[in-house]
Amino acid sequence: MIKPDGVSGNYTEEIKRIIVDSGFSIVNERLTQLDKETASAFYEEHSSRSFFPDLVSYMTSGPVLAMVLEKRDAVSDWRGLIGPTDAQKAKISHPHSIRALCGKDSQRNCVHGSDSISSAEREIKFFFEDVVSDDIASQHDEL
Ligand code: TYD
Ligand code: MG
Repeated sequence: MIKPDGVSGNYTEEIKRIIVDSGFSIVNERLTQLDKETASAFYEEHSSRSFFPDLVSYMTSGPVLAMVLEKRDAVSDWRGLIGPTDAQKAKISHPHSIRALCGKDSQRNCVHGSDSISSAEREIKFFFEDVVSDDIASQHDEL
C-alpha cells in the first residue's frame, strides 16, 4: 500500500517503477479513502499502542493506493524493498529502500507491506473484498 503521504507527494509513479523493475507484477490496485473505522480495522493489531490514534489520523488524511503484488517470495522481498519501519533509520541503514526515498519518520513511512503470508491474505481481502465504499478508481477486471 502507498500511504497518504506517498500518494499526495506524487510518489506513486516512481514507486510503481521500482516495483516493476524489482520483478513484481501489479495484479490489482485500488485507490481508496480509508475512514476512521476502516483504518482502525486495518491496524487492529496495534489498537492498544500509544501511537494508534495518530496512526489512524495519518492513514485517513488522504487516499491510499492498495496493490496486490505478485512474485516468488513476494512478502519477504517487498518487506526488504520498503526497508525498516522508521524512515529516518531507513535513510541511514537502507538508503535505497522505498521508505528512505519517501518516508519521513516512524509513522509517516510512505508505504506498507504485509508481514506474512497470512497477513497478506487478510489485507488483500480487506482492500479487494471488504472495503467497497468510497472508491476513487475502480478495480481492474483481470483478477
Ligand atoms: P509496524 O507493524 O510495527 O511496522 P511496519 O509498517 O513496518 O510493519 O507498525 C505499523 C505502523 O504503525 C507503521 O508503519 C507506522 C505506525 N507506527 C507508528 O506510528 N509509530 C511507531 O512507533 C511504530 C512502531 C509504528
Ligand atoms: Mg506491520
